[in-house]
Amino acid sequence: MAGTDDESLKAHYAPFLSERDKYRKQYSFWTRDLPDEDRIELGGGMPNVGLFPVQSIAVHLVDEPFQGARKSDLVNHWSHFDSPEGYPIARSFQYGETKGTQLLIDFVKHMIGTLNRPAYDNWDCILANGSSDAMFKVFETICDSSTTVMMEEFTFLPVVSNIRATGATCIPLKMELSADPEEQGIDCDYLGDLLENWHSKEGYKHLNKPKVLYTIATGQNPTGMTLSMAKRARIYELAHKHDLLILEDDPYGYLHFPKYDPSDPLRNPYHGLSTQDYISKFLVKSFLTMDTDARVIRLETFSKIFAPGLRLSFIVANKFLMGRILNLAEVTTRSPSGVSQALVYSTIKTYADRKNFNDENEAMFQGWIQWIMKVAAQYTHRRNVTLKALYETEAYKENLFSVMEPSAGMFIGIKICWPNSYELKCETIFEEMDALNTVLLKSGVSVILGYRMAVDAEFSAETCDFLRITIAYAKDDNELIEASHRIGNSIMSFFTK
Ligand SMILES: Cc1ncc(COP(=O)(O)O)c(C=O)c1O
Repeated sequence: MAGTDDESLKAHYAPFLSERDKYRKQYSFWTRDLPDEDRIELGGGMPNVGLFPVQSIAVHLVDEPFQGARKSDLVNHWSHFDSPEGYPIARSFQYGETKGTQLLIDFVKHMIGTLNRPAYDNWDCILANGSSDAMFKVFETICDSSTTVMMEEFTFLPVVSNIRATGATCIPLKMELSADPEEQGIDCDYLGDLLENWHSKEGYKHLNKPKVLYTIATGQNPTGMTLSMAKRARIYELAHKHDLLILEDDPYGYLHFPKYDPSDPLRNPYHGLSTQDYISKFLVKSFLTMDTDARVIRLETFSKIFAPGLRLSFIVANKFLMGRILNLAEVTTRSPSGVSQALVYSTIKTYADRKNFNDENEAMFQGWIQWIMKVAAQYTHRRNVTLKALYETEAYKENLFSVMEPSAGMFIGIKICWPNSYELKCETIFEEMDALNTVLLKSGVSVILGYRMAVDAEFSAETCDFLRITIAYAKDDNELIEASHRIGNSIMSFFTK
């Protein structure tokens, strides 16, 4: 195992950098980074706080999701120089450090250190403007036309656009679309064979051997599947052997679904669950926890557990790669929005569980986990309501579809089961799915077609005949039930008319 001190990280990971990264140099006209208290600041182009049009902000927080207008005592106030949370307008509305405020960085580091401590020491966290921005920065830093990146065959498609924009090539990996939690996700035999025999693989041998694996390892988008720890260990071993970076994009990991119980469909194990049990029994460990080589870059976002409009997320990586990512941020986004950082920081500070914990970051962490569990409980309820309604439809009872039960996240896959007697009406499976989509749209429900989220639709032609539905946006249970019935009726009429 190579070392992970600064010099070793540089020696190991500098060859992973893109050509563009090599030309990216900072030209600074500053003699120092931040103003010093008793020096008169005539250097930096920073507006005086008196010129900001906002005098103060009062943020009213809810105790529970869907609390609506019911009153809560959780209010925090920020003014120019004062905020009980230590991040007043004078600081949060001002230009800030590119990596984000140290206050929030300390918090996310505490969170990573507690839940997913990397198996080496020389790591760091920085904030970014959402995981989409984080990914853009990572791919700009490590990809160019000589790079080959592997990923699950169905994926969050903007990633593919992001990678291809650097000139790099995307290679789909076969997935096991299985209900078995030990089997689901990337097919490790397929991955192993691909890497062992890369130079003799038809269609790929002209490309450089992959140097990056992008994975949504928990609550995968669009399949909802989660890689077991055994699979993670096998993938990490392959990454070690073939010297790959692993980019782990994890927006959904906190939204874990306990197993659906058909005999008690609305059972919600989040009720009465302790934070310790949530952490130890529900949350799946990150690749970071086995990362002795410092080859994992992890992305987390506040989009799904706080709000997407914040555009706030964070990156965990080894200090060498982090420095290069930060170097790009210096000339693109600079710091994430100070207003978003202040809102997130002060909210978590307000939720902090000071009754039971003395250390401030630990109190914040515990309070934040309690909020996250309330969100995850809502998603579990929505999953329950939707599965129950889908399983009650005639089309399900007639075996015209099966459900890919998700283990985390926001998505449920509905797999179309083609009756033996059925002859495709269209030439390709893609057109056939388009025709089904037209029926769904006419019945008043919109879904995403699996093949539209394939890295290479032809590669995935045999397994792409599923619909991705999200349980996140619907107004209430009734809407989820109605949508499930519309899906059932549409599939029924598609096969019978
Ligand atoms: C896998 C995945 N990564 C990233 C994102 C985007 O996250 P953010 O809002 O933080 O940019 C999404 C959003 O749907 C996603 O599904």
